[in-house]
Amino acid sequence: MNARTSLTALAAAAALLASASAMAQGAKLKVGLMLPYTGTYAALGVAIENGFRLYLAEQGGKIGGREVEFSKVDDESDPAKATENVNKLIKRDGVDVLIGTVHSGVAMAMAKAAKDNNVLLIVPNAGADAVTGPMCGNNIYRSSFSNWQPGYATGEVMAKKGIKKAVTITWKYAAGDESVKGFKEAFEKGGGSVVKELTLPFPNVEFQALLTEIAAIKPDAVYTFFAGGGAVKFVKDYDAAGLKKSIPLYGSGFLTDGTLEAQGASADGLFTALHYGDSLDNAKDKSFRLAYAKTYKLQPDVYAVQGYDAAQILGIGLNAVKGDVSKKAEFAAAVEKAKIDSPRGAFTLSKAHNPVQDMYLRQVVGKENKVVGIASKSLADPARGCKG
Ligand code: BEZ
Repeated sequence: MNARTSLTALAAAAALLASASAMAQGAKLKVGLMLPYTGTYAALGVAIENGFRLYLAEQGGKIGGREVEFSKVDDESDPAKATENVNKLIKRDGVDVLIGTVHSGVAMAMAKAAKDNNVLLIVPNAGADAVTGPMCGNNIYRSSFSNWQPGYATGEVMAKKGIKKAVTITWKYAAGDESVKGFKEAFEKGGGSVVKELTLPFPNVEFQALLTEIAAIKPDAVYTFFAGGGAVKFVKDYDAAGLKKSIPLYGSGFLTDGTLEAQGASADGLFTALHYGDSLDNAKDKSFRLAYAKTYKLQPDVYAVQGYDAAQILGIGLNAVKGDVSKKAEFAAAVEKAKIDSPRGAFTLSKAHNPVQDMYLRQVVGKENKVVGIASKSLADPARGCKG
């Protein structure tokens, strides 16, 4: 054993002892919520926390037999502040588990810190493909999707509709890039071609010049990834520019999820693909929507579902290890064999801990993302070099 491995072994033994003694004293489970509470993704962060807390309340306030104490950090969807922010939770507050976040760039920094410090991390939104690829491990889980998944499903839908020539438009960062990559893969496989890839920096919403370019190119359709406040503005601007009637707009479902009140008639009729929708006919979704509406006086969206399912994953793992977060291998074994009873429909996690799930085709009807079909059945993210 060299000096470095013996130090790692010592640190692991110390963590085990600390965890055993905290458990023996009935210590609360420290949950660190790192989410955006300001900026274009603020509403997404709130919905995730609401969903997480709803599951906790249904369990009588305990997970894995332990009461929960929260620490919270607003990550502002700012990758430049991410390492400092996650260290507030890990080093200052000594959390047992990290729940976060929405933005892919911030999530990558969280995954690195979780790995370096061997802290449990459950990602309740950010789709950064690498989190459940090369960054995977028995302390890293995702309750949401990989960026590739909804992009790929929408590409299949558009190709099947016979669309041949598309333009893509998105924010220039991991989520936009990877979403477009997934879209292109399926769309080109189905006979389509992408004639122009337009981008603007995150979280800019000055779309006018790009919309003028789309009007000049005249593609058969447009594929887009935007979410939160940016998605609201994009859908309204697309309509106001007169493009909605002549060039059909498609997107991964974030384009219209949690945004319909603000988008109004501009969103009417839009087709998107996502792992959730507003008219699913399953018992879990019915009870979830009822409880969510009663508790928060709001309708849930995909982000609320992902927060709820992050808490479910934590519960499944922690029940198996009787609340002892140091038992990462046993935690992983329990979660890997579980079927998670989600409002989106039951799903399992891949070996790399990303959901294997149905992607629904949805159409906006009034204030609903109405499910009109299955875009891709049991869609698994491609293997991305996860060594486990
Ligand atoms: C992301 O950055 O991964 C992301 C943000 C909002 C919605 C979906 C994905």
